[in-house]
Amino acid sequence: MIVTIDGPSGAGKGSAAKALAKRLGFSYVDTGAIYRALSYLSLREGVDPREEKEVIALLDHFDFRTEIQGGKRHYYLDQEEITAVIRTPAVTERVSAVSAIEEVRTRLLPLQRKEAELGNVVFEGRDMGTTLFPHADVKIFLTASPEVRAHRRYLELAPKHPHLTEASVLADQLRRDEWDSTRSASPLRAAEDAIYLDTSALTLEEVVDRLVEIVRGKHG
Ligand code: DC
Repeated sequence: MIVTIDGPSGAGKGSAAKALAKRLGFSYVDTGAIYRALSYLSLREGVDPREEKEVIALLDHFDFRTEIQGGKRHYYLDQEEITAVIRTPAVTERVSAVSAIEEVRTRLLPLQRKEAELGNVVFEGRDMGTTLFPHADVKIFLTASPEVRAHRRYLELAPKHPHLTEASVLADQLRRDEWDSTRSASPLRAAEDAIYLDTSALTLEEVVDRLVEIVRGKHG
């Protein structure tokens, strides 16, 4: 069974998808990590993310792996562990440009689809229900107001990045939202048969309860 969770950044997809997978006993796949890994590679190799041809060339030696250790997913590029570095602002800043390149998206599809071999999976991303798994069993579109999303992201980043302000996080997020939803290659949008859930006024636990209900309601 495939459950897809799409939505803009800061809607709480990551925590909700992870918790949902745990409650259902499913595997969890964060597809944003793959785009983040390529974004990190562009940074490591000094490639400007707007230089499409150069970014595409990076895919020829994109040796991305994930491993589960002690119940936690770890990410590797070649021999380098990149689990933490792919969440840094430097990588986040350039990931929209990297993920907007059409050839990047098509070439990374098989790597993502392969994860469906895990069996029952919750997939989290931007185009899971539209492009990756148009026939998914359950499709969810999680969203929240821009202010709530920026506030959540700020609380997450502030301990490690004290120079950030809530206003700068909101501005950065609006820029990414705009970019992710207007790019021509697989833009962020809800699948026609997706179930919308606005998480602005909900706690994580309430969101997960609701998601479990949705999945069980469809396939109980
Ligand atoms: O969910 P996230 O913030 O880790 O995603 C990182 C970036 O990758 C974000 O700019 C959107 C993009 N992305 C995408 O285009 N398609 C996906 N399936 C997942 C993420």
